[in-house]
Amino acid sequence: MKILVTGIHGQVGFELLRSLEPLGELIPVDRAALDLTRADDIRALVRATRPELIVNPAAYTAVDRAEQERELAYAVNATAVGVLGEEAERLGAAMIHYSTDYVFDGSGSLPWREQAATGPLNVYGASKLEGERLLAGACSQHLILRTSWVYGLRGANFLLTMLRLSRERPNLRIVCDQIGAPTWSRFIADTTAALVALYAIRQEDRTRLRCASGPLHLANGGETSWAGFAREIFRLAGRSTVVEDIPASAYPTPAQRPANSRLDTARLEQLLGVPMEPWPQALARCLKGEHCTA
Ligand SMILES: NC(=O)c1ccc[n+]([C@@H]2O[C@H](COP(=O)([O-])OP(=O)(O)OC[C@H]3O[C@@H](n4cnc5c(N)ncnc54)[C@H](OP(=O)(O)O)[C@@H]3O)[C@@H](O)[C@H]2O)c1
Repeated sequence: MKILVTGIHGQVGFELLRSLEPLGELIPVDRAALDLTRADDIRALVRATRPELIVNPAAYTAVDRAEQERELAYAVNATAVGVLGEEAERLGAAMIHYSTDYVFDGSGSLPWREQAATGPLNVYGASKLEGERLLAGACSQHLILRTSWVYGLRGANFLLTMLRLSRERPNLRIVCDQIGAPTWSRFIADTTAALVALYAIRQEDRTRLRCASGPLHLANGGETSWAGFAREIFRLAGRSTVVEDIPASAYPTPAQRPANSRLDTARLEQLLGVPMEPWPQALARCLKGEHCTA
């Protein structure tokens, strides 16, 4: 299977190259090879390379900056996703795309199920939701994997920020009233590969991917707050930094974030026949630099 992968220098994109490598012939593209704000370039590249599967982890992910850069966020997170979907459909190819817990408004305390009503609180979430809508309308074989609180050993993320700050400060004040599941980028990539393998094997025509309709929630198991996540990072990394709980209201940011970011992953667990690896376990493996076997 020929697999086009975007955003290969991103947290998830980088891991996807490793996870998808055994499953097909990869066509990896970074921003220099394909700027997703250029629809004509997207069409030309897809038509020239003719992938059977497009995996699109590329995204505009600067949540706070998106409040000021609405147009750019929508260009990458919505318009480009629709164009990729149209081109996939034109070739009879499938597309796997990633979305976010930020499509929800964060009310209540129950994990969000896939069918739950959306209501993004910020521009980033709204742009990702529009990308979901455009892809669903454009491409009949698509899979939208909504994930949360992504971290890993590269890129810009909470884990690396905490490890850096813990070298500089003995105490840190961290938000304790936003709840979700930290999710390792490698876990996302390995789970994506498991889904690709599963669907490819089930298909009579193994070169194509027949996807379940609608989004799927993909996150490590369990839940915590940002403060809880920080404490576990410091415990595992042997840092003595003390975490002080603060409410989100004491840490104002340009973009509002949901208080309840829990994602219900039951549908994905049923599909794969395995539970999601608990977040502390995944974090421990990430910090040890171990390989994931999702
Ligand atoms: N990070 C999170 O906490 C989080 C949470 C929930 C869902 N998600 C979703 O998960 C997916 C993967 O996120 P991630 O954390 O891996 O993102 P990331 O590390 O920020 O990587 C995003 C990638 O997209 C590329 N990109 C941005 N604008 C582009 C453009 N105009 N043309 C081409 N490439 C462009 C970036 O290229 P450069 O390397 O050149 O900048 C980067 O490689 C995304 O769909 C994201 O919305 C992320």
